[in-house]
Parts: sequence; C-alpha cells; structure tokens
Amino acid sequence: MTPISVLVADDIATTREDIKRLLYFEEDIKVVGEAADGEEAISLTNELKPDVVLMDINMPRIDGIGATEQISESVPQTAIIIISIQGEQEYLRKAMSAGAREYLVKPFSANDLANAIRRVSESQRRRNIYLSPSLSAVSSSTMRVKRGKIITFFCTKGGIGKTTLACNMAVALAQDYKKKVALVDLDLTAGDVAVMLNINAKNTIADMVQEQENLDSQLVEAFLVPHLSGVRILAAPLSPEQAELVNVGHIEQLLKILKEKYDYVIVDTAPIYNDNSLSVMEASDRILLVINQDLTTLKHVKKAQEILEALNYVSRAKTILSQQSSEGLKIKQIEKTLGVSLTAVIPEDFKTVKNSINKGVPFVMSQPHTKVSSSINNLIESLDITKPEEYQEERKKSFVTRMFSF
Ligand SMILES: Nc1ncnc2c1ncn2[C@@H]1O[C@H](COP(=O)(O)OP(=O)(O)OP(=O)(O)O)[C@@H](O)[C@H]1O
Ligand SMILES: [Mg+2]
Repeated sequence: MTPISVLVADDIATTREDIKRLLYFEEDIKVVGEAADGEEAISLTNELKPDVVLMDINMPRIDGIGATEQISESVPQTAIIIISIQGEQEYLRKAMSAGAREYLVKPFSANDLANAIRRVSESQRRRNIYLSPSLSAVSSSTMRVKRGKIITFFCTKGGIGKTTLACNMAVALAQDYKKKVALVDLDLTAGDVAVMLNINAKNTIADMVQEQENLDSQLVEAFLVPHLSGVRILAAPLSPEQAELVNVGHIEQLLKILKEKYDYVIVDTAPIYNDNSLSVMEASDRILLVINQDLTTLKHVKKAQEILEALNYVSRAKTILSQQSSEGLKIKQIEKTLGVSLTAVIPEDFKTVKNSINKGVPFVMSQPHTKVSSSINNLIESLDITKPEEYQEERKKSFVTRMFSF
C-alpha cells in the first residue's frame, strides 16, 4: 500500500525534526517535504499534493491560517492538520473555519500524531471519492430517498446571509405554506440558528450523536426544538470543540430520517468545504449558492460551481443574490461572470434584518409586508418545490405531451 504522504510546515527547524523523528517508525506514513513558512507550505503543497499537511499557526510571511485557507481552495484533496501550542484556542477556531480538518496541541505523542494523520487521510480518501463524478452518481442514487426535500444554503464566503435566509425560508414554509419543516444547523463550529430564532437549545446535534452511534427517528425527534412558527430545529453544538463529534455517517443518517418525516429539511452550513458539507450536498435536492455583489464572492462561487460540476450536482444548484444594493456588480455582470441566471434576489434591508436578528424573531413573521419578506416568498416560489410531487410530474408529462402533439 502506498504510504500516506505528509508535508510538515513549521518555522522552527527543531520542531520539524522532532515531527520527522516521531513519524520515522510509522511504515504507512512518509514525510515528503518541509516548509518553514506559510508561503512555502502553499507552493510545496501545490507541487507535491501530499495527502496531509501538518501546519503550524504562527509562521512568517503567511501564517498557518492564511495558508490553510489557500490550500483548501487550491488543493482540496489535501487534508490539513493544525499543530499549535496551548492557549491558541481562538486561532484554532479560525483555522478550522479556514478548512483545517483536525488539530493537535503540542506536545503530542508519536501515537497521537500518527493516529490523527491516519484518521484525517482516511476521511479525505472518502471525500476524494465524492469528488469523482462517476462514483458520486452511483452513491447519490442510493442516498436520495422518499418524500421530503432537502434544501441547503451554501457559500464559502462568510457573512453573506445564509443563516438569515435559511431561518426565514424555513419559517415562511411552515407559516405561509403550512408545511412540516425541519431546520438543521450544520455550521458546527459557529452556528447561530438558535440565536437568530431565539430558541433555548440546551440539547444540540453534538449531544444527540453522543447518545447513540446509529441514529433513529425517535432519537432525532427528541433533539428537535420547536419554534413557535412550527419549524423544528436541530441546533449546532454550543462550543466549537464539539463540532468534531459529528461525522459524515451521522449527517447521512440524520438527513435520511428527516427527509422521511418532513416536507422540507432546510440546512444551514459552514462557509467551508469539508466531508460534512460534501455529504450534505450529496443528499440535497436543491443547493442554494448564496452570493452578493462583490468580486471576491464571485471567485468563491466559481470554485463552488466547479466542484458541483465535478460532482454532477449542477442541476440541483440555484444561485441566490443576497443583500442586493445599488453598490457593487450589476446583476447582468454577475450572471455573465457565473454563466447562470439568478433564481432569486433578496434586497438589502439593514433595518429590518438587524432588528429581526436582535429580537430573535424572523422578519417574515415580524415584518411580513417588507420587500425583504416578500423576496423570501419569491425565493420559495422560484424553487418550484411547494407543489405536490404528482403535480410536478403531471406538469412534466403535459409538457412532453405538448411537445409531441405538434
Ligand atoms: N438582506 C439583508 N440585508 C441587510 N443585511 C443583511 C441581509 N441578510 C443578512 N444581513 C446581515 O448580514 C450579516 C450576516 O448574515 P448571516 O449570519 O445570515 O450570514 P451567513 O452567511 O450565515 O454568515 P456565516 O458565514 O458567518 O455563517 C448579519 O449581520 C445580517 O444582519
Ligand atoms: Mg451562518
């Protein structure tokens, strides 16, 4: 078997030597390169495409967080493990959101290190299988079951409005369309659905997966928190370290269970690519790419489009413009750059949105007559998901009949 290839990025030469020594006797792990700063880590990763990068945080030129962010974008098949010293908790959170897969606090044993490398490389291997279009087509047909629709909001650019949209859309579907709706907060390190909807979520997804490894419908139901709109919410962990308790297997089981019971399962995600976000996309009926009018966001979205294309998910993807204003790129420019038509446009409305977030009441409930509220209904309508399945099938059939009746 080919050994797991590892690049060590740390500015202190003796630390690099220590790490190499720790890994020397592990036959299935091979150190293939060393970098003394973030910039070197990026260029060597691009060149060597190692399975795993061990990344220090404090490094000259580009630090470990910046390097992690760039590598996650440019070489998504490489997994990053952050190695840090005690007391860098805030940095660790940032590193995980930048795309790191695991972290180890120095000093660590040879065993801890080798096991982390094996674990991360194994889950990366699975993720790389997802990235192969032919294989994903097979697994998606087995994964997509039964009745409800899974709708996922996604964008690797943070602060764009994903959570605002997910909460308001879930509430509008429950209130205005009288649907059975579950809202799942899969922004596991920094989820804020519970805060936005002002619910008391003592029990979260992290507590749920600790109850039993194989989830069942009864357990999931017990952890859903009801909102006064009727939406039932599965909250994100209360602290970022608990995020790692939730794995791809849990997410697959959870979504399958919810899809069987709910008309709609709305999923909010973290602004990163990792195993979890890929498995959510795999299960989703609609992937809503949320964008704004900044050029930097479009760069992120282009990358997302490439990934969705590689995974064969383009037909599920829709592009939603959030916080539309007179500033920034024009809609025509955006559509031309991305090569898609926008499915819905949500206007910028600082006052309504901020007020609603601060009060913990979704604006579709507290201010239903604002433009931003009607845009949520337009979004729902434009997704063509509220009609019964038979109706949609019927529409497809009648379209075909019309075509052939000429
Ligand atoms: N339509 C809007 N008009 C004005 N402000 C908005 C609008 N939508 C969202 N915002 C503001 O943008 C900020 C980020 O929104 P939100 O938390 O929904 O984004 P996000 O994409 O979920 O962020 P993160 O990636 O951090 O999870 C919030 O402070 C919110 O007030
Ligand atoms: Mg969010």
